[in-house]
Amino acid sequence: MCGIVGYTGFKPAAPILLQGLARLEYRGYDSAGLALLRSGQPILTIKKAGKIHCLVSAVQEARISPVFTSGLGHTRWATHGLPVDKNAHPHSDCRNQLAVVHNGIIENYRALKRRLRSQGHVFKSDTDSEVLAHLLEQGLRRKGWVGAVRWALAQVQGTYSVVMGYGGEPEKLIGAKSGGGALVVGLGRGENFLASDIPALLSHTRRFFYLQDGELAVVSPSSTRVLRLSNGRSVTKRPLEVDWSVQQAEKEGYAHFMLKEILEQPRALKRTLAGRLDPKTGEVKLEGPFWSSAFLRRFRNITLLGMGTSAYAGMIGRDLLEKYLRVPAQLENASEFRYRKPPIGKDSLVIVLSQSGETVDTLVALREAKAQGATIIAICNAMGSSATREADGVLLTHAGPEIGVASTKAFTAQLGALWFLTLYLARLRRTIPPGLLLQKGRALGHVPRLMQKVLRQRHHVARLARKYAVFHNFLFLGRGIQYPIALEAALKLKEISYIHAEGYPAGEMKHGPIALIDRRMPVVAMALRSSTAHEKMLNNLMEVRARSGRLIALVEKGDREARRLAEDTLELPPVEEDLGPFVSILPLQLFAYEVARRKGCEIDQPRHLAKSVTVE
Ligand code: F6R
Repeated sequence: MCGIVGYTGFKPAAPILLQGLARLEYRGYDSAGLALLRSGQPILTIKKAGKIHCLVSAVQEARISPVFTSGLGHTRWATHGLPVDKNAHPHSDCRNQLAVVHNGIIENYRALKRRLRSQGHVFKSDTDSEVLAHLLEQGLRRKGWVGAVRWALAQVQGTYSVVMGYGGEPEKLIGAKSGGGALVVGLGRGENFLASDIPALLSHTRRFFYLQDGELAVVSPSSTRVLRLSNGRSVTKRPLEVDWSVQQAEKEGYAHFMLKEILEQPRALKRTLAGRLDPKTGEVKLEGPFWSSAFLRRFRNITLLGMGTSAYAGMIGRDLLEKYLRVPAQLENASEFRYRKPPIGKDSLVIVLSQSGETVDTLVALREAKAQGATIIAICNAMGSSATREADGVLLTHAGPEIGVASTKAFTAQLGALWFLTLYLARLRRTIPPGLLLQKGRALGHVPRLMQKVLRQRHHVARLARKYAVFHNFLFLGRGIQYPIALEAALKLKEISYIHAEGYPAGEMKHGPIALIDRRMPVVAMALRSSTAHEKMLNNLMEVRARSGRLIALVEKGDREARRLAEDTLELPPVEEDLGPFVSILPLQLFAYEVARRKGCEIDQPRHLAKSVTVE
């Protein structure tokens, strides 16, 4: 949730750290800070409540000398202690001889703090993280820098991904991880980096390796060394080379990352399908031993796991897999998975969906499913992330880095991967006639073009947003495969515009929510003609109108009947029912965006949210 950056090399560290933090701001944005190290100089720490620009101003005012070529920085999403200057990271010990940035939660911090205080340590913040600085201070009295880190971390219970610097060895940063979100080591020439996420470092390198839980990295300008925290043994790492570009991590002239990412969806989906689906013939292929394994022909049930938007993509995937494979499939909110005792085992395929591959609830569920003998496929956007490392088979969505906190392109890319996987498995298991399979493949290959058409309605959507931004409550209704879209559209609206919105199956309306309908409650209904339940949906529209509801309907171009019933419409090109979600979500993402913009909300960094939820 918080963002971490570390640099050690030959260039002034402060600008590199600030740029990295700006790129990580989507992970946490209530306060930020950095610490700079240089041999023979006291550690220079600057930290500020507020967004990164507050820290940037403070750094500019401090007129820092360029001699500091090593340092670490942090952007915070508060867990323990208010977002005020003193609670911002980095934290230091009593003598200001070291600096620590931390992502995660130190669960036993109260006991550690009591003990450290009784031993004379003076605390300057209310955070759990500061105990680590004082533990390191104690460790340093008896051990060297690496030894002190191992000794201190051995006493910590909870989750952490940390970067630490010590004035006595300023060029040797140490990173370590045990839960607490990802920590990558970026490899340069005469300089090396640490960060919570790859986009932070894309201007400097595309070569990375991820630290795994229980590992520690000693990073200096000319070398990186990885050890196991428990026994100090060396670990060999194979760097991966990412194909993400610096531009993908930048706004490129758009007002917000969210808008850039919404408009980028046709291209992102093409990347998801590239090399896997031939859009002309409709043929699907996946290479590698896992994808031709006997298991994929014989599994007997499917569980899909994810959180938030990824879970809603999973709901659509469940419907597709069940329909085309004729295998029982269920979608489970990953955070609830372990509280049930679902009967899964060796015959079960578990599909884990996660943009980041680091969402802690999803990882915990993945591990639980694995422990029960299931085979795991991860559908994930972040190459090398925990989910991809722990799964048996991986389908990368290749949507490119998603920076806006509200997920958009990752969602449609997940849908693409799920669709593609469904066709692939249906071919393997021969559950769809070959001709129909190719026809479906071609239809899927055509989707990016349909999406492009829909996105041209941006200005019409903006006009609707102007009219409806004044309302405080919205209801989104969908049936069948459009029901998850109602949920996702409601989530988009609430998370970035703070408007209360609920998604419901349209059939549920008469069982309660209808009581809410009046002139002040706009209802957004997915009323695409291709839906098998179109007639029923039209009845729902009439029921809303009969109660003076304000009705916005998503309709197929030329559907006069649906048009007549609605106060406003969003028109979509004709599309077959199962592919409908790819296009129906687009105007609703834009609608949420435009409403939030009119309300002056912080679109890319909505309050209280963080891009990657790495604490339970
Ligand atoms: C909503 C949103 C979240 C994420 C959820 C899972 O716009 O972004 O609901 O979808 O936190 O994140 P990942 O997909 O990274 O596991």
